[in-house]
Amino acid sequence: MKTEILSGKEGIIKGAAIVRAGGVVAFPTETVYGLAANAYNPDAVRAVFAAKGRPMDNPLIVHLSDKRDIPQVTRGFDRKYEALINAFMPGPLTLVMPRKENIPDEVTAGLNTVGVRVPSNKTASEFIAACGVPIAAPSANLSTRISPTTAMHVYEDMKGRIPLIIDGGECNVGIESTVLDITGDVPVVLRPGAVTAEMIAAVLGADVKSHTGKVLAAAPAPGMKYKHYAPSCECVVAENIASAINCYERQKEEGKDPIILCRREHLPQLIGKRCIDLGEGDAEVCRNVYSALHRGEKIADFIICEDLGASGVAASVMNRVNKAAGGKRV
Ligand code: TXA
Ligand code: MG
Repeated sequence: MKTEILSGKEGIIKGAAIVRAGGVVAFPTETVYGLAANAYNPDAVRAVFAAKGRPMDNPLIVHLSDKRDIPQVTRGFDRKYEALINAFMPGPLTLVMPRKENIPDEVTAGLNTVGVRVPSNKTASEFIAACGVPIAAPSANLSTRISPTTAMHVYEDMKGRIPLIIDGGECNVGIESTVLDITGDVPVVLRPGAVTAEMIAAVLGADVKSHTGKVLAAAPAPGMKYKHYAPSCECVVAENIASAINCYERQKEEGKDPIILCRREHLPQLIGKRCIDLGEGDAEVCRNVYSALHRGEKIADFIICEDLGASGVAASVMNRVNKAAGGKRV
């Protein structure tokens, strides 16, 4: 199968036609690129799992172009969460709610809940609206690989597997949406993202269980048990710049070709060493992190990423980097 890349209206019109005919198309969102299928069509949803090589027990998020459509796929919405929808939708927040019967088991992996998200990316919402149906979509990478934040990243994994990639440029947020389960007494962050537990608690004026809390260990998002975001080369997290330099020198002595991923403020300490600049501030670092991992695995054979922090959006970024490193620290 030939994989086309089209941008703008042309991509949206052709992509929507493919989805309406039961096919699978990659599309941009503000978080990462997604692999879209008609959420009401079980065969199309199966084709998404096949294209990704994803286990069928890991549910997909249902994407809508308009938050007013949320009641079409969920039921028993608790009014106290309306403030979250007003504050963060459209945007990088997925709400796990009781599902309606019209959503097939293939989407939810048989769970009686469904994850719902309304992307803020303009191409995404125009594309979903043009499809005319809710869109089931995981990130557009092969299972266990780094999530894509450009059309080229998608192409590397999905070439020959899907007919079309809608190119919407670089994703603005850069890591996957926050997944928040609102089916219990206390909302639980199942996957951290750019919308942090602190931000959610502030809007609700109530407790939120963060992904680091004990509750999460008992009830993680089904996808969290799988190996994720793995670069093709070795990857470690460095406690600080001194340990990053140490590790770099050691790898050099062993004949390796390492690279350091760090915030811009640390570049002056790394003159003469190969580095990738993650930028300044949490939002920029978040936007750049997957691109840096994609680039790092291509131009080096050992990735050293500095620890970016333990609170706010930096903690969400580290959730992904720690997985890329398989928990290895130096
Ligand atoms: O930002 C995003 O969320 C991107 C873009 C494309 O929208 N999508 C994405 O999808 O990251 P995926 O399939 O790669 O990750 C979805 C995560 C998985 O960890 C899955 O287990 C969890 O959401 N999830 C989906 N439905 C769920 C449900 N009903 N209950 C609990 N977790 C759910
Ligand atoms: Mg994913």
